[in-house]
Amino acid sequence: MDDLNGRVAVITGAASGFGREFARLGAREGMKLVLADVDRAGLAALAGELAGTACITVPTDVSRAEDVANLAQRTMSEFGAVHLLFNNAGVGSGGLIWENSLADWQWVLGVNVWGVIHGIREFVPLMLAQDCECHIVNTASVAGLLSPPGMGVYNVSKHAVVTLTETLYQDLRLAGSRIGSSVLCPAFVPTGIHESERNRPEELRNREALTPSQRMAHEATTKAVTSGRVTAEQVAALTFAAIRENRFYVLSHPKILDSVGLRMQDILALRNPSDPFTYKPGVAPGSTA
Ligand SMILES: NC(=O)c1ccc[n+]([C@@H]2O[C@H](COP(=O)([O-])OP(=O)(O)OC[C@H]3O[C@@H](n4cnc5c(N)ncnc54)[C@H](O)[C@@H]3O)[C@@H](O)[C@H]2O)c1
Repeated sequence: MDDLNGRVAVITGAASGFGREFARLGAREGMKLVLADVDRAGLAALAGELAGTACITVPTDVSRAEDVANLAQRTMSEFGAVHLLFNNAGVGSGGLIWENSLADWQWVLGVNVWGVIHGIREFVPLMLAQDCECHIVNTASVAGLLSPPGMGVYNVSKHAVVTLTETLYQDLRLAGSRIGSSVLCPAFVPTGIHESERNRPEELRNREALTPSQRMAHEATTKAVTSGRVTAEQVAALTFAAIRENRFYVLSHPKILDSVGLRMQDILALRNPSDPFTYKPGVAPGSTA
């Protein structure tokens, strides 16, 4: 999908981080924007910044089917079409996998997996009916290509997004459609992701104090995210380049492929899983490197 000018982009998780950068870049490309997030104040601030761009904000909790249905309806009633969809909203929760609460699983899988499922169910039929060039970008993570310790709930959610998007790609091809798809797999980039708890709904909050493993995982993630050197703006730019070139896998840190290769070799050799931090020990949970 090459000509973005005048096309309609829907962005979830638009109020911060990657989503906000997709919106800024989309505006510079002359796109019409539909900005969705649970963070109403963040949406309003972004809409103010983008004054002059054709743009609506739709407060949306992507984990709720009815909210995403409303997002699709608002998109069509306002702009009459959808060409580019970013299923991008996401949250994280860490710690040893058996220590995560039911609420952790419901919250993270609700946003990261069900959010993408709802987006696909609502928007793909609209795109198919239009029969024109369209593109869908699902934000996964390198945690969808590896299984690092201390972040199991997040890993499960992002592996799901990778296979969802790979299957989407195959199904769209099977259907002979003109919809392209990409899966964005960033490593650690400075955004608000380490402060995901800020938007956790009241009914899914944990009442107990964090366990030592959860505290350690949060500290490690905070350190890795805040010290990341690739910016969200750069990730948005390389994602738009991938959309233009119809490239499926989008990685912000291609060196991580060494670790992905190691995991694949483990599988091919039927050998037990290697340490996913073999090539980057400094980001292991609890690491002081
Ligand atoms: N920053 C990183 O290092 C990194 C690495 C890999 C993947 N990711 C992924 O990138 C995506 C964007 O995250 P980010 O890094 O920009 O973080 P961010 O916290 O800056 O932005 C995430 C946005 O999602 C919104 N959100 C949270 N719950 C929501 C819900 N239920 N419905 C709608 N919106 C909701 C938040 O309000 C926020 O505006 C996520 O899917 C995240 O998992 C981030």
